[in-house]
Amino acid sequence: NYYAILMAGGIGSRFWPVSTRDFPKQFHDMLGTGDTLIQKTFKRLANLIPEENIFILTNERYNDLVFKQLPNVTERQVVLEPAMRNTAPCILYASLKIQKENPDAVMIVAPSDHWIEDEIAFSQNVKTAFDFCSENDALMTLGITPTFPNTGYGYIEFDKTSTSEIKSVNQFREKPDYETAKSFLNQGNFLWNAGIFMWSVKTVVNTFKNNQPELFQLFALGIPVYNTEDEHDFIKDNYGKAENISVDYAIMEKSKNVFVIPATFDWNDLGTWGSLYDKLDKDESENAVVNAKTLVEDASGNMIRTSKDKIVVVDGIEDYIIVDKDEVLMIYPKAKEQDIKKVLQAVKEKYGEQ
Ligand code: GDD
Ligand code: MG
Repeated sequence: NYYAILMAGGIGSRFWPVSTRDFPKQFHDMLGTGDTLIQKTFKRLANLIPEENIFILTNERYNDLVFKQLPNVTERQVVLEPAMRNTAPCILYASLKIQKENPDAVMIVAPSDHWIEDEIAFSQNVKTAFDFCSENDALMTLGITPTFPNTGYGYIEFDKTSTSEIKSVNQFREKPDYETAKSFLNQGNFLWNAGIFMWSVKTVVNTFKNNQPELFQLFALGIPVYNTEDEHDFIKDNYGKAENISVDYAIMEKSKNVFVIPATFDWNDLGTWGSLYDKLDKDESENAVVNAKTLVEDASGNMIRTSKDKIVVVDGIEDYIIVDKDEVLMIYPKAKEQDIKKVLQAVKEKYGEQ
């Protein structure tokens, strides 16, 4: 009865110029390991779930990329969205399809673009969660010990008094402001939301019904045609009407039956060039290099990634991102990496879609 929803519809704009609208980061080998991020994630899930029950949710623009990179998946497994509406609509839509196929399904929802080193610990945590949500009406999360007041994550306040592996959650708070995040860190019983969820299909569908009645109504209308040849037309006509909202705001913040397992694996959401730098091996001057052949003089702390075998000479620069792809070369301070989203916007305005 185990199923997975692999979310692969984001753009990864802070990884520009490598990640672009037409070829986002989950389809790149960001770590230089030989596998793209979506391939790595698929393998990780296939340790736990029958391959034919792993559904990939993505924008219709990425249809060809998915089949090219995961050649063994069937059309049934690739669920296409005609519009970008963030994670809540796609999770509800896929859940209703899965429910129609198997009302007893228990599932994991996972992003396609994270770094997890210890696959065995990951599998153990997920199995514990699966056992619990098979028996309970529970929305399960995996929590990461926070190291700084990152405002790009969700925060999970867990019950301090609990000594068990699964802790009940007092509060789920998506992307708090900096001061709030700081106070959460000081309190000591907050974890970062890893963005990975486990629940029974029955629980998640009911949760949407109670907390997002409009969204629920919209997609519930399609139940008679899901998994039939009329589904495509229904989705084409209706998907764009869905509110643009993430699952975190849509249901996690509003629900009382949230539980967390503090993760026993190292995790990195590979959200920025700096987080990628942290995970890569470094040369003797602490530069992380992917694909390039480098000649380094007085340069350290740089993140260098180029097209294959390009020779890169660097001298006298510290803590920079040096990345090229096709017509673009970006040399940008690592400290300002969050601004790459804005930079990309400015580039688009000046030079067109990227
Ligand atoms: N299919 C589909 N459709 N996938 C999408 C869409 C969409 O419209 N939008 C985003 N995704 C995918 C992304 O590719 C990514 O794998 C995942 O959904 C999460 O989206 P992000 O946009 O990366 O979310 P976030 O990083 O801002 O926040 C989430 O993840 C954090 C941890 O990385 C939240 O769950 C936070 O609470 C969490 O801390
Ligand atoms: Mg993310």
